[in-house]
Order: sequence, then structure tokens, then C-alpha cells
Amino acid sequence: MSNVRFALVGCGRISRNHFESLVRLEGAELSAVCDIVPERAQAAGDEYGVPWFTSYEEMLRVAACDAVIIATPSGLHPQHGVLAARAGKHVITEKPMAISLAGADALVQACDDAGVRLFVVKQNRLNPPMLLLKRALDQGRFGRIYTANCTVRWTRPQEYYDQAPWRGTWEFDGGAFMNQASHYVDLMQWLLGPVESVMAKTATLARRIESEDTGAALMRFRSGAIGVMEVTMLTYPKNLEGSITILGERGTVRVGGTAVNKVEHWQFADYSDDDKLVESASTNPPNVYGFGHEIYYRNVLAVLAGKAQPDTDGRAGRKSLELILGIYESARTGRDVPLPLVSVAR
Ligand SMILES: NC(=O)c1ccc[n+]([C@@H]2O[C@H](COP(=O)([O-])OP(=O)(O)OC[C@H]3O[C@@H](n4cnc5c(N)ncnc54)[C@H](O)[C@@H]3O)[C@@H](O)[C@H]2O)c1
Repeated sequence: MSNVRFALVGCGRISRNHFESLVRLEGAELSAVCDIVPERAQAAGDEYGVPWFTSYEEMLRVAACDAVIIATPSGLHPQHGVLAARAGKHVITEKPMAISLAGADALVQACDDAGVRLFVVKQNRLNPPMLLLKRALDQGRFGRIYTANCTVRWTRPQEYYDQAPWRGTWEFDGGAFMNQASHYVDLMQWLLGPVESVMAKTATLARRIESEDTGAALMRFRSGAIGVMEVTMLTYPKNLEGSITILGERGTVRVGGTAVNKVEHWQFADYSDDDKLVESASTNPPNVYGFGHEIYYRNVLAVLAGKAQPDTDGRAGRKSLELILGIYESARTGRDVPLPLVSVAR
């Protein structure tokens, strides 16, 4: 079978994770790159020996590709994804898939209409401890869940936000919940959801950005369990913690490290062979993005070969976006916001 050809738009920070995954994976190849900054497009094109473009429309018109990877600023994901779908390409979009439900819905609709696949990159779900934890939940090992806590104590200095004008803006990015901690919001709802309602406070305490650098959210899950999230990008002097703790009737688990990569506590009333895997699942990823892009692509390739269902498709991506928008709505209005959202102001 011939390789799946991937073209990428947005040759910025995260693009390297995609490039390096494609280089390593059998059955996949990078076939073109695009960035509006010519030096970035050219540097990536030269490094990987593929044609480079500064016009996305032109790349879609002339480049040979089966799928397009969208790694542009978050607020542009829907428009870039819709164009790719209309050109008959499968879409792999970086998280978040959009920063409004209208954008997410337009993207899902365009992919459905064109009969192409839509993948939203949520690689943290694939961290080995997260897969073990999800399996323990699915097997009912916790019994009834009482509480869940998620803490993201990371550091993003002002220079990080100043690197690109879209960072920290409401139009193209959002804040700590929408960008840096969006994987964690996703994990909370994937592991424990659906969420019935959410209350939140957010603040811009230290960075010169429009959106929040810090916040806390309190959620009630439909199961009755209570969840708490504490998120900040202001930890001194470096990333301290990205953790999830779940307390149930018959089990307690805490996965910590800087990016839910280390099982710190694993205790259940009943034995399972999975318990033996806990130690080997605690591995340090090279950075807070985790190992997951390459593993993520294995699923993409399997789906495109008709051998698997998507790990996270557009509808899965939309669920965590809805929770983030609920957090923002509560922070803005001071109200307890029921989910699903009926109307979204932002
Ligand atoms: N999965 C993850 O863990 C993870 C990690 C980091 C970033 N991301 C996501 O990836 C996306 C990009 O983040 P980043 O940190 O790489 O940002 P970045 O600013 O470093 O890169 C974005 C690139 O897109 C280019 N661009 C902007 N508009 C364009 C257009 N119209 N056409 C072509 N190129 C255009 C910019 O010139 C820039 O090079 C964001 O949505 C972010 O949330 C995901």
C-alpha cells in the first residue's frame, strides 16, 4: 500500500513534533509544508526535502497530499480545516480544534459533507498512565467515584506570550484553560464526564495578555462526583506539576509528574493484572507535550487504512471545548453553568 501523504500548515513550535513523528512512521510521509512566514516554510521544506508554500490555498491546489495537518494559531483551525475538507483532504488539527462551538461545528460539518476524516490531536490521553487509569475506570475498579482533582502548575514567562502576537488573545488563542491546560480539561471529561455543571474563577495576575494566566474550576459530573481544577502558568521558577487524582469507593489513584506521566499512588480493593504495569507506565516524556504525537499518528494511519476508529475525532474534540467554554462563561457571569451549553457568548 502506498504511503499516506501529509501536508502541514503552520511551521511553528509544535510542527516539529509532527515532522519527527512522520519521519519515524512507516506508511506515512510529509509531502508539503506551508507558513505565511517564508523563512519558516523554507526552513522546514529544505530540512525535510519537500515543496514549501507561503499560500495555504496554493498548497491545497497543487501539493500532492491525502491529509492536511493544521498547526496554525488555534482560532484559525476551523477555517484552515474547512478549506482542507473542501479540497477532499483528511484533517488532523492541533488542539483545540476551535475556540468557539460555531467554529467546531463548521469544521465537523465540512468534514462530514466532504466524507473525510477529522482528527483532533489529544496526545496526552495516550500517556501510558492515562491509558491504565482509563481502563481501571472503564472496568469499574473505583466503584462509585467521589472526587477528582486536576492540578496544572506550569510556567509560561512573558517571553513565551511575546513570541507570537496571537498568544493570549481572545480572538486566536484564549488563556490557560483553552491553550496550555486544554489537555487536562479534556482528560477530566474523558475520564469522568459528562460534566453536569461548572463554576469557575479566572484571573490575569501577572502576564500582559488578554486572557487568563490562572484559574480554578469546580465541576459536578453527571455521576454525582465533584471535580476541582487548579490551573496556573505562573509557577516559580519552572513547571512543577500536571496531575490528576481520583478518589472512589474502592480505589485511589494519583498520576503526577509535570505532565500526568508518573503514577504516584495506585491502590484498589481488588487485584488486577494491570497493577503489575504501573511501574513501567511511569516514564518521563521529553517535554510537557508528552510522547504522544507519534502514537497519535499510529491511530490516524490505522483509521485511514480502515482498521480502527479514531482515538479523538471532531465530536470528541468538541466535548472538551464545550467544557472550556463553560468554564469561561461561568468566570464571566459568576454563574453555575449547566452543560451542554445552549448558547455560547464567545
Ligand atoms: N498538542 C500539543 O500538545 C500542542 C502543543 C503546542 C501547541 N499546540 C497547538 O498548536 C497550534 C500552534 O501552536 P505553536 O505553539 O506551534 O504556535 P506558533 O506560533 O509557534 O506556530 C504557528 C505558525 O502558524 C503560522 N501561521 C499563522 N497564520 C498562518 C496562515 N494563515 N497560513 C499559514 N501559516 C500561518 C505562523 O507563522 C507560525 O509559524 C496551536 O493551536 C496550539 O494550541 C498543541
